[in-house]
Amino acid sequence: MNHYTIYELLEARRSIASTQSKCEKALLKLQPGKSQHTLTAHRIAAFKIALELIDQELTRMTIRPEEPKDYREAEELTREAFWNKYRPGCFEHYVLHRYRSRPEFVKELDYVAEEDGKLVAHIMYSHAIITTDDGRVIPIMVFGPVSVLPEKQGKGYGSRLIRRTLDLAEKLGCGAVAITGDPAYYHRFGFVSGSALGVYYGGVPRTEEAPFFMVKELKAGFLRGVTGVYKDPEGYFAADDDVDAFDAGFPPKEKKKLPGQLV
Ligand SMILES: CC(C)(COP(=O)(O)OP(=O)(O)OC[C@H]1O[C@@H](n2cnc3c(N)ncnc32)[C@H](O)[C@@H]1OP(=O)(O)O)[C@@H](O)C(=O)NCCC(=O)NCCS
Repeated sequence: MNHYTIYELLEARRSIASTQSKCEKALLKLQPGKSQHTLTAHRIAAFKIALELIDQELTRMTIRPEEPKDYREAEELTREAFWNKYRPGCFEHYVLHRYRSRPEFVKELDYVAEEDGKLVAHIMYSHAIITTDDGRVIPIMVFGPVSVLPEKQGKGYGSRLIRRTLDLAEKLGCGAVAITGDPAYYHRFGFVSGSALGVYYGGVPRTEEAPFFMVKELKAGFLRGVTGVYKDPEGYFAADDDVDAFDAGFPPKEKKKLPGQLV
């Protein structure tokens, strides 16, 4: 069988499922025993087989918890995904490496996506807090780095990994999740600007919009009545010298100043 991309398979799935549903509606209006009825019933059976085969193919990608044997490969893929994207070089592979031994690390949500024995994506979550104006501390989570191998980006891997782990976070009892990133990407998962839920990004004046900082409630109403500030956990910050020393253990890669980088 050809190896189709996940995107192609999902598109085919959507299209077949919609045609199948139209046929099922049409079948109700057709008279049993008539040739049109038989033909439509055969078509529906064929669509079911096609959907089953697509689902089998889609499961080529396994989403599973990260294991110690994956650590280096996950760091390599994180480095590949982030390299020269937001700054010359990157530090996210170092953050991931160091985070696994930090108390805020959420071991249960440290996940990888694997295809044909190779890691194609990784995500990690951290415990975090919102400090409210009336002195309360509200526990939430934040995710990232989330990385997809460059040659696999834009094919649905990231979305599936994010959706799966958000479901798991909800099952773990997490009330809300924060993310800093591109709203164009994260709004599709139900993230809204933090300020819309009364949560402001530490260091940015409240009068200033910070659209890159988003929050999603996993329990409806979890942030009702909350006005406060979120700060990224300590583990997300890294000294340049430490990053460089860690990066020296990876194959050399050229740092480039590129348009669109944040730093
Ligand atoms: C961001 C990332 C995890 C998304 O995973 P992915 O598998 O490539 O994305 P998906 O296939 O699930 O989704 C594709 C969609 O996301 C959009 N998209 C992908 N990365 C994006 C980004 N950084 N910003 C905005 N939109 C993005 C694509 O344009 C596409 O949009 P469309 O569905 O409207 O056409 C992945 O591209 C990646 O590893 N990027 C480099 C590292 C990074 O930026 N991580 C996130 C930091 S917050």
